[in-house]
Formats: sequence, C-alpha cells, structure tokens
Amino acid sequence: MKQYIESNKQRFLDELFALLRIPSVSADSKFKGDVKACAEFVAESLKKAGTDTVEICPTDGHPIVYGEKILDASKPTVLVYGHYDVQPADPYELWDTPPFEPEIRDGRIYARGACDDKGQMYMHVKALETLLENNGLDCNIKFLIEGEEEVGSDNLENFVKENRERLKADMVLISDTSMLSNEDPSITVGLRGLSYVEVEVTGPNRDLHSGVYGGAVANPINVLSKMIASMHDEKGRITIPGFYDKVVELSPEDREAMAKAPFNEEEYKKSLDIDAVAGEEGYSTLERTGIRPTLDVNGIWGGYTGEGAKTVLPSKAYAKISMRLVPDQSSEEITQLFVEHFQKIAPASVKVKVSPHHGGEPAQTPTDSNAYRAASKAVEEVWGKTPIPMRDGGSIPIVALFEKELKVNVVLMGFGLDEDAIHSPNESYGVENYLKGIETICAFYKHYKG
Ligand code: BES
Ligand code: MN
Ligand code: MN
Repeated sequence: MKQYIESNKQRFLDELFALLRIPSVSADSKFKGDVKACAEFVAESLKKAGTDTVEICPTDGHPIVYGEKILDASKPTVLVYGHYDVQPADPYELWDTPPFEPEIRDGRIYARGACDDKGQMYMHVKALETLLENNGLDCNIKFLIEGEEEVGSDNLENFVKENRERLKADMVLISDTSMLSNEDPSITVGLRGLSYVEVEVTGPNRDLHSGVYGGAVANPINVLSKMIASMHDEKGRITIPGFYDKVVELSPEDREAMAKAPFNEEEYKKSLDIDAVAGEEGYSTLERTGIRPTLDVNGIWGGYTGEGAKTVLPSKAYAKISMRLVPDQSSEEITQLFVEHFQKIAPASVKVKVSPHHGGEPAQTPTDSNAYRAASKAVEEVWGKTPIPMRDGGSIPIVALFEKELKVNVVLMGFGLDEDAIHSPNESYGVENYLKGIETICAFYKHYKG
C-alpha cells in the first residue's frame, strides 16, 4: 500500500488540488453552482476510485453524494462520512495566496478546505483506490459525503432518517477532526454540541442625536454589552440559571488521565501570540475546550462603524452568540434557557428578540469497540505511537445523530493539526498528513474485522 501511495503521490495531490479549486462555500448562495459542481466532482472521483454505484441526491439545500462498494453482504460494512462544503474564505485580503488557488509551501497545502474537510475526505477516496488496486479490501464501504456540514447539516438529518436501511453499517468512520501533533497522534473520542442564537436589542424607534438624547434614552449597544458581560461571573462560569444542571463532571481519575496528554501550554500561547490563556477557574486548557461548556460572542454590531465620527445613539444592537455543549446538555434545552434568561435580564428601556439558529448535540465515542481498536492499531502502525484518546472542542452535529438513528459506533480518526488554521485565513494541510492519512485508512481496513 505504502509503495502504491508513494508512486502515485503526485497524482493524488493533483486530484486534491482540482477539488480545492472549486469554491464550494455552502453558507453563501452566490456559490450554489460551485457547490453543485463540487458534488459532481466528488461523485466522479468515487466512481473512478472503484465504487459500484454513486448517486447525487438532491435535497432542499445542497446535494448529498452517496456511493457504495459492496463486496459481499455477509462481510462487515463501514459507512464513511465527510463533507465537501467549506467555510467562507473571508476576509480574502488576509490570505497570502488566493484561497481557491491551492499551492504547496514548506510541505503544506494552502487552500480553503485543504484540511476541513476536502483534504481529509479525499483521503478516503484515495484509500479506496489504493485498496482495490492492491487487493486489500475485505469489507463493504458506503460513502456519505454531504455539502451542508458547515451550515448545520439540516437536510442530512432527514436523509439519514429516510435512508436507515440503505445506510445500514457496522460502524461509521470519519476524518474531520485533529490530532495533538504528528509526534503524539490522538483519536477523537468526544465532540462538543452547539447552540447558536442571534439577538436583537431595540431602544428608541430611530437613530438619535447622541448629544440631544444621550443620557436620557437607553443606548441598545451599551445595554447589550452589559447583558453579555453579565453572562459570565468572575470565575468564568456562565450565569444562565440551570446551564450546568446536566453537565457530566469527570471523575478525578478521568481528569488525571486527561492531564497526562502531552500538551505544551507555552507553545500554545506562542502560536496564538497571547500572553495568557483564559477561561473557567479550576480547569486546564484541554479541559476548558474538551469537557466544559462555553458561551461566546461570534459577532456584534450596530450604530456607526464607518470612517470618522458620527454622533449617534443607535436604535438597534445585534450579536451572534454560540454555546458549546458537553454531555448531557441538550441544545434545545440550553437554547430555551438562554432565551428565558436573556429576556429576563433585559431592562425595561429596551425590547429584545432572540432567534435560534441550527444546533447540535454533544457526542462521545467508545474506546472499547472493535472499530476503535482497529483505528488505534492503524494509527500506531503508521505514526509509531499508540494514539491518545482525546476530546475535541469542535462540533460535528451528525455524529450524535448517527449513533441515535443508526445505532452504530462512530470512530473519529482525523489527521488535522491546530496549525492547519481551519476556518481561518491561510488554512493549510500537511502533505505528510494527507499521504500518511491515506496509509492509515488502508491500515484500518486491514485490522477491522467487524
Ligand atoms: N471539522 C469541523 C469540526 C471539528 C474541527 C471538530 C476540529 C474537531 C476538531 C467541522 O467542519 C466544523 O467546523 N463544525 C462546526 C459546526 C457546524 C454546525 C457549523 C463547528 O464546530 O463550529
Ligand atoms: Mn469539518
Ligand atoms: Mn468546519
């Protein structure tokens, strides 16, 4: 396998580059045609790699690509999930090279989606080709590649519910997460859930002169800032009543095990140009992102932000707020608690409106399954160390749904790194991670026996 990957390295990279050139931004309707073209590219590449059937399934949003390689119904079946959509590339001016013109610099592929998730998803397509060309496949593979992960997977939920039989599998394999480092490989065993709301605070019925009215009429931006600030106490805890009620606290043993992960806080701070980390008192950085829930403002606006100074007391203020959730919090319950609290703390001088966006449930994946053991062996074989089970802070809402609707174990065998800067300008993916990832996926199929 390794030999085959090595001798086809250039073509594997060229094909990924062609995929990265398609600006499949799911959030922005101006790219709708590109998203569709990207689905067609993925379908074509699956066919070429050797699936028996491929279908582009239309949805109310972007299409889902579904393909199968069935060797024998009596053999175990792996369902591979990935996404071909990407985050918007804005702000474009912060990219050193254009986001949809991939380029290799210092052993890294620079492009939007290089890691999240085109690079990682395409490793599975090339692993299928490698296995088939080398008589290495001994199980059935189903591919489910969607185009709406970055906007909440709304239509995938229905697709999964309507296609339970077709998607039937013994496990789900996903590469859309990261590792601690190439020297200390890890497998993700936990993802946070998400509750996302947009708030609007309205004061007077129009923008006012900030001198004529200032001091006598509530300024919605001042009010919103104060409301947001009040949602954390001095210990960094979220003040929404009931917010922590369902949070599962880890046992001292589990926390000790987590603390053994080789995480270097000095390097972490250096890589972000910060002098100090910040967060909930009493928890380490890895705990703050892995096992604790959060509340963050993702964007805030209102009033005058143009050039120069305009003296205005704005009529409205807005913010987009996300809450990352951990087991056993429910996104619906937390959204409800937020809405009630936000309305309660609003002073009589303003009106507030809260609009919930998409949500997702937290997920935990077991380490005592045959699927996990096969992944662990494969990573060890290719990366030279037993991978550490780690909880990631990001969210993949469909993971909890796979477990609930299909009753299968999910394995999150991702090969990204923090330095890949997913969702940021200059996203990249190591060429080594791409090629070793393909090799690891091939090794996984060697070890997985159902
Ligand atoms: N692949 C990421 C999630 C991720 C990244 C998990 C790194 C673990 C480590 C995924 O594409 C993503 O960005 N998810 C969104 C959620 C979605 C509902 C917009 C997220 O986490 O913000
Ligand atoms: Mn992703
Ligand atoms: Mn993403």
